[in-house]
Amino acid sequence: MAFNDMRDYIQHLKDKGQLIDVNTELNVARETTELQPLMRHLHNIAGPALMLNNLSGYNTKDIPVLFNPYGTRERTSMILGEEGAFDGKVKHAKVLTDPSSWLKPNCIDASSASCKDVKIEKKEIDIGKQLPHVWFGKEGPSYITNAIVITKDPETGIPNTGCYRLTQLWNASHPNGEVYSEEEQRKCLSIFAFWNPPGNHIGLHWAKAQEMNKPLEVAIACVVDPVIQLASATGIPFGMDEMDFAGGLKGTPVDVVKCETVDIEVPASAEWVLEGKFLPNRDVTIGPHSNPVGYYDDAQLFPLIELDCITHRKDPIWYATMEMEPPFDHNYMACLPMEGELLSDLQSKIPEVKDVVVTPNLSYFIQLSVDGPQKPHPEFGKHVLHAVWGASGRWGRTAKVIVVVGPDVNPYDLSEIEWAIQTRVQPITDTIMNKSGQAFLMDPSATKDPGHGIALQSEQIGIDATIKVFERFTSYPEYSNAKADDVAAIAEKLKDVLK
Ligand SMILES: Cc1cc2nc3c(=O)[nH]c(=O)nc-3n(C[C@H](O)[C@H](O)[C@H](O)COP(=O)(O)O)c2cc1C
Repeated sequence: MAFNDMRDYIQHLKDKGQLIDVNTELNVARETTELQPLMRHLHNIAGPALMLNNLSGYNTKDIPVLFNPYGTRERTSMILGEEGAFDGKVKHAKVLTDPSSWLKPNCIDASSASCKDVKIEKKEIDIGKQLPHVWFGKEGPSYITNAIVITKDPETGIPNTGCYRLTQLWNASHPNGEVYSEEEQRKCLSIFAFWNPPGNHIGLHWAKAQEMNKPLEVAIACVVDPVIQLASATGIPFGMDEMDFAGGLKGTPVDVVKCETVDIEVPASAEWVLEGKFLPNRDVTIGPHSNPVGYYDDAQLFPLIELDCITHRKDPIWYATMEMEPPFDHNYMACLPMEGELLSDLQSKIPEVKDVVVTPNLSYFIQLSVDGPQKPHPEFGKHVLHAVWGASGRWGRTAKVIVVVGPDVNPYDLSEIEWAIQTRVQPITDTIMNKSGQAFLMDPSATKDPGHGIALQSEQIGIDATIKVFERFTSYPEYSNAKADDVAAIAEKLKDVLK
C-alpha cells in the first residue's frame, strides 16, 4: 500500500481504529504544557494516535496537531504497508540492500502541487504567527520534529534528505539568559546537525559550504507522507538520494516539485515547505534540549537557518513529537531504520542473522536462526557481536549493550532475553567488554567532548546468550515450556471461563 501524503496515513489509522479526535482543551504553552504527561500516559497504555483539535496557549488556533502516530511498532510498520514489526523491517532491509529497486522522483508542475496552496513571501514571514509552536517540557525553544531537510552537496550538487530536529527561535528562552534578536525570532531556525562520526550528511554539506564561505540552500518539508520521513531517517551511503530509496519503499516514485526560492525539489504533497539558507559563520546557542535518552542537555551550538519563503497546504496539519525518557512516539520511527540498516548489513555477511531489534533505550538484540550444535562454529555468537560493532553506518558502532540469542528466544520480549542471559551465559566467559567503543552521542554516562558537548568514547558490553554447544558442552538440557499453538488452543477452549 502506498500513501500519497500524511492525510492518507491518518485516514488509514482511523480506518484501523488507531486514531482518535480529541476535542478536550489541552494546554501546550511553555511552563504549563500538558504534552509531556500526555506522551507518558499514552505509552503507559500503548495508546492510539490522537488528533488534538482544541489547544490553548497555542499560537495557531485553527491548525490541528497530530500526536503519537508512530507510538507502536505496528503503526510504524503500517507506513510500509505491513502490520507486523518483523515484516516492516524485513521490507525496509530488502529495499535498502537492492538499490536497483529504488525509483527516481517524478517532478510535477507547481500548479498541481498542494504544498503551494498558500505562499508567504520573505518580507511577510513571521514564524510566531505562521508556524505552530507547542512545548512539551522544559526545553528552551519550540521544536520542529516532523520534517525532512533537503540540501545539495555544494561541490557535486547531489541532494541529501535527512530527518533532523529543528528549533524555532520565536518566544524561545535562551540557556544563558540572553534574548534572541527580533529578526532571529521572526525568520530563523536552528538545526541539530550533529557531527557524530561518521557524521550526518547535512553536517558534511554544511561543513563544505563553510569551507567555501558560501551560504547553503535548504528546504524543510514538514508533515510529509511518512514513508519519506522513514527513508530520510535511514543512513544510506553519502552521495545516494533518500528520495530514490523512498520511491523504492513505496513502489512508486515520490512526486516532487521545485521550490520557489532555492534550487531544491520537495515532496509535492507536504503540508508545509520552509525555504531558506544556512548563512556562513552564523550559529546560535540553544538549550535546554530534551534528548532521546531521557535527559536535558544544557546548551549546544547549532547552525542558523534564515527563511526566505514559506508555502503550505490549505487547512494545513501540524505533527508534534518530542524526546524524553523512552518510550515515546517517534522511537519506533527511528528504531525501524536502524534495525533495517543493521539487518541488511549483517545478513549480507552472516545469513544466520534472522532479526535485529533495537529497543527504545537503544539495546541491540540479535536473533539467530541457529543455536547450539547448528552454529557454524564455536564462538559464533561472539563473531556476531564483533560484526555489529563493525557494521556500516552510524549506529552499530555505538551499540553499548548487545545480546545475541538463538531462534527460540523472542527478541521483542525483555523477559525472554533475561531468561536467555540467566540460563545460557557465564558473565566472564560469554561476554566481550570493549573499553574503547564509540559513544551514542547523548549518553550522559560517557565523557563529553568539551567542544560540542557530545559524548565520543564509550565502554560497551556484548553478551553471547547462545547455547554453548560445542564451546563447553556436548548437549544442553531439554527446554521446558508449552508450544505456542497449544497455548492458543487452551486459550480458545477456556475463553468463556477466563474472560
Ligand atoms: C524523528 C527523528 C529525529 C531525528 N533527529 C535527528 C537530529 O536532530 N540530528 C541527527 O543527526 N539525526 C537525527 N535523526 C536520525 C537521522 O535522521 C538519521 O541518522 C539519518 O540517517 C540521517 O540522514 P543522513 O544519513 O542523510 O544524514 C532523527 C531521526 C528521527 C526519526
